[in-house]
Amino acid sequence: MNPTKTRINRIGTILSVICTVAEAVLAVFMVISGVGACAIAYRGEYEGIFREFYETNTVYRILNSLADLRQMDSRYASAIGCAIAFLTFLVLFLFLKGFRRLLKELIESEHPFSIELAKEIRRSSYVLLLSILYNPIIGAALFLLALLFSYLVEYGAYLQIKADQTNRIQEEMIVSFAEITENKSGQTGQHIRRVSEYTKALAKELGMTEEESENLRLASTMHDLGKLLIPSEILDKPGRLTDEEFAVIRKHPSYGGQLLENVEGDVMELAREVALEHHERIDGKGYPTGKTGEDISLPGRIVAVADVYDALTSRRSYKEAWDEDRAYEEIVKNAGSQFDADVVKAFQSCYPKIQEIRRKFADSAPSASDTTN
Ligand SMILES: [Fe+2]
Ligand SMILES: [Fe+2]
Repeated sequence: MNPTKTRINRIGTILSVICTVAEAVLAVFMVISGVGACAIAYRGEYEGIFREFYETNTVYRILNSLADLRQMDSRYASAIGCAIAFLTFLVLFLFLKGFRRLLKELIESEHPFSIELAKEIRRSSYVLLLSILYNPIIGAALFLLALLFSYLVEYGAYLQIKADQTNRIQEEMIVSFAEITENKSGQTGQHIRRVSEYTKALAKELGMTEEESENLRLASTMHDLGKLLIPSEILDKPGRLTDEEFAVIRKHPSYGGQLLENVEGDVMELAREVALEHHERIDGKGYPTGKTGEDISLPGRIVAVADVYDALTSRRSYKEAWDEDRAYEEIVKNAGSQFDADVVKAFQSCYPKIQEIRRKFADSAPSASDTTN
């Protein structure tokens, strides 16, 4: 989970507990002031514990001074004072109840800020204005605080909408890039689709969250982006490639890294890592840099397994598709040398899911022009 969201959740939980305690206190105050209002009105008892609830009360003070001026029974001023106290506690109680519900939403939802939520808080803040009758300073302060909070939520919602728009644009760009790469590299089958789905299954099996796995799925669709810079005569050449031609093809990870060098955004940065490292090997015999072990990023190590498994189980111009069992054995055999052992372990545990993806996105017709993975 995002660290800021973790902090929001922690603060939200603490505030929720404080609100619950405050609600209980307010409920007790409501009972006392409610009983006080009735007792004073019907029996004229306006001394004792009820006095605390109306003496500081603005309305009571005004009514009481009027009663003094006209030499009237101040009992009704006290009763109304108690009733105003009851009303104020009720308003605060309802506000806190609503606020606690909003906190719950804030904790549980991935996108907690919305314009509707901001409007709801603003409406509640106007109701809070009623507490001015009890104490103008406290009432005005509570109203302004609630109003400020509503504008903060609205600003949060605005930022959320902007972030969603940016993500959507990023996603659309990635899908376009993936389609262009697929067309250019002659991978007319569903290679990119399958590799990205295998990648997501492996990422989830390795404990990544849904959001992280989905980001990696998207990023992996661009793993062969560098093939855009490889001459079509080589990519489309039927039959085996010469060593020189293979040397050119092996440049595609570096080209992919260069194409994505100055990108920004979580998914695009992941895509650069994957494009650069999906042909690296744990034992250092991969390319383009010959990195070893954990010097290769986890996304790179995951896509390496997904990519090779799909290359093995797909037809290429120089080989027939291997059957699933043989490809599975090949991946397992190379754990710790070509592939990360933990990723292979995850591959073994989620193999039924991998098979399911392979069947779901099977090529409709074999492509004769595929050259490499
Ligand atoms: Fe590749
Ligand atoms: Fe590939």
